[in-house]
Amino acid sequence: MFASKLPNLGTTIFTTMSALAAEYGALNLSQGFPNFEADSELLKLLGEYAERGYNQYAPMTGLAALREQLSIKTEKLYGAFYDVDHEITITSGATEAIFAAISATVSKGDEVIVFEPAYDSYLPAIELNGGVPVYITLHYPNFEVDWDYVASKITNKTKLIIVNTPHNPTGSVFSKSDLDKLAEIIQDKNIYLIGDEVYEHIIFDGLVHHSLCTHPFLKERSFICGSFGKTFHVTGWKIGYCLAPKVLSVEFRKIHQYLTFSTFTPAQYALAEYLKNEEHYLSIPTFYQTKRDIFLKSIANSRLKFVPSQGSFFQNVCYKHITDQKDVDFAVYLTKELGVASIPISVFYHKNVDEKVLRFCFAKDEATLQKAGEILSSL
Ligand SMILES: Cc1ncc(COP(=O)(O)O)c(C=O)c1O
Repeated sequence: MFASKLPNLGTTIFTTMSALAAEYGALNLSQGFPNFEADSELLKLLGEYAERGYNQYAPMTGLAALREQLSIKTEKLYGAFYDVDHEITITSGATEAIFAAISATVSKGDEVIVFEPAYDSYLPAIELNGGVPVYITLHYPNFEVDWDYVASKITNKTKLIIVNTPHNPTGSVFSKSDLDKLAEIIQDKNIYLIGDEVYEHIIFDGLVHHSLCTHPFLKERSFICGSFGKTFHVTGWKIGYCLAPKVLSVEFRKIHQYLTFSTFTPAQYALAEYLKNEEHYLSIPTFYQTKRDIFLKSIANSRLKFVPSQGSFFQNVCYKHITDQKDVDFAVYLTKELGVASIPISVFYHKNVDEKVLRFCFAKDEATLQKAGEILSSL
């Protein structure tokens, strides 16, 4: 018998819901990716660079021109300097960056603090490295972190804390005070951080993204993972990056080197060029806020309850006053019977906490959002 290293993992709910949506011809607001095209300027750049012959391996650390643009952008937006040669690495999506950062940090028996609901790639990476997840449960509707409670879960085995802001699946974002409290509870400890900040530009209502790198103490112990796929509507390109101080980047790169070595060359050229115009990322919050608002307006008169998403491209809605069906069952019912697919929030908790909340992805064209809203208003 082949012994599984991840015996508890099966087909993910994302695959299941998307397959169900396809089978029943439902509007697919389940998986987190846009159903519209990226900027034609970016697509054209990709084609041009491929055509001009930039198709062989990129440098292991990523194209220098792209790392340079990231360094400029991070300093401009967050006032944080990262050295182009030693502190920025381009990866195959944020997923690879997160895996490499966890692998570089976690050894057998190390404890890793994970806030739930949590994005699903953290846990397998922790387990494969022999780490022990220590869960902190956050609750609907605000999913706030009680930092005193987090402090009570820190032991002499705690090695890593993974934070995600703006947050998938809840749409909540960290405040400056969250960063201060985080710094306070780890100040005299040998604890590292992963900042999963893939939605850094998808933030609403004038809120500011508080990157871990804006806090000098946190910056020194953080791997910040980002994703061009999320920012520029090209999730299929799988280009991400990791920003980390030199001592951490050295170890990060040892893993990245043998995980993928390097990533898709023509896209790195295209992105390096595209990033030179800051409007391309500064316009993203408004672009997505418009989508969030179309979706919220379309369900404003429905019986669903919601707190407007603060960031990411996800909106949570609560249906507990409509039915007491389990969230997984209700999501399946909505897909099969009414024709709108979503993701039940309980799947993001290891103990499947069910607060009767569904996650809808509003990275969709206006017609899809309106139609989904009409259907949900009929509930
Ligand atoms: C919170 C979070 N982190 C990381 C990722 C992965 O990003 P990428 O597609 O760049 O690998 C996602 C994608 O859904 C995400 O939602």
